Amino acid sequence: MEKFDLKSIEKEIRENLDKATTTEALGLIYKKYLNKKGKLSLIFRSLGGLSNDDKIETAQKANKIKEWLKNEINKKAGELKEKKIEEKERNEWIDITLPGKKPPIGRLHPLTQNLNKCCEIFQKMGFSIILGPEMENEWYNFDALNFPPDHPAREMQDTFFIKQKNREKMTSKEKLLMRTHTSPVQIRYMEKNKPPFKIIVPGRVFRSEATDASHEVSFYQIEGLMIDQDISVANFKAVIEEFYRAFYEKKIKIRLRPSFFPFTEPSFEVDMVCAVCNGNGCPICSQTGWLEMMGAGMVHPNVLKNCGIESEKWQGFAFGMGDRMAMMKHKINDLRLFYNGDLRFLRQF
Ligand code: FA5
Repeated sequence: MEKFDLKSIEKEIRENLDKATTTEALGLIYKKYLNKKGKLSLIFRSLGGLSNDDKIETAQKANKIKEWLKNEINKKAGELKEKKIEEKERNEWIDITLPGKKPPIGRLHPLTQNLNKCCEIFQKMGFSIILGPEMENEWYNFDALNFPPDHPAREMQDTFFIKQKNREKMTSKEKLLMRTHTSPVQIRYMEKNKPPFKIIVPGRVFRSEATDASHEVSFYQIEGLMIDQDISVANFKAVIEEFYRAFYEKKIKIRLRPSFFPFTEPSFEVDMVCAVCNGNGCPICSQTGWLEMMGAGMVHPNVLKNCGIESEKWQGFAFGMGDRMAMMKHKINDLRLFYNGDLRFLRQF
């Protein structure tokens, strides 16, 4: 005699399976019949009162139903999954003929590209790149560079001084300002290093002056310094000509004009033949065919002395150039275009 009505359990399962249209419903069926406390599992635990033959027969039948149910649940779950995918494919589709979205690509600012290119050229000539602070003190920016105390460059209209309490009682090493040129880094470097050396110093400088097509309140300079024995103006000219040849990718004629800087003797300004008109005259060079590109000179013995370097034994040249190189290279006639952040302009580079 069969203690359990397996037939009606099977029938009940079939009805439940027919009604199940979701994976959640299948989960409930699994729980109801196959879990530890499920109806089929209970049958195995309650075989105690049966004869051995009935036990075997009931267990075999219950096992058969169990395996069949597991298969049915798996089969139906597979079918439901496929149906879901089909539905998704029917409802969601991708138009592969649409043009792709271009991710916006960032780029370096043209003046940064310019500085990088300059550094690369000078590095190939054996110069090391040295950086210095943008906020300086008066000693490095002026005194150590042999600026007399009453030099006009120190005055309010040129220099952004930092407001400090009791400033008038401070030493020049304590009085802070925004550096007006990259030359103070020469001093910082020479104080700590023994010649010979060749360095360049790219960096931002600040001047309190009215802006125009070739003047900004903040702009970039590249300082150069080469100290060795038997260095002359001829070495300077060769280095600068080689630099321009590499930067403009053609031979550029330059000329030196006498000038004055407190930290160089002799001092000169370097003009180059206008790379836009090749010296024929154009609006960029004000029809002169020449453009002033940098200040330079042989390092003044007083500056070497201030840094503890014997000026009888060591000498060399220094130079400082601004953003004009980039203006020339890209034929831009107003420096302010580089600084006003107009993306329509900047995206061209
Ligand atoms: C100097 O700044 C010196 N320190 C250069 C120097 C270095 C001379 C080493 C000797 C030895 P100057 O003030 O002339 O010099 O500036 C150098 C260059 O910076 C100029 O030729 C010019 O190209 C650029 N410049 C100067 N003022 C501005 C400004 N307001 N805006 C943009 N560029 C400027």
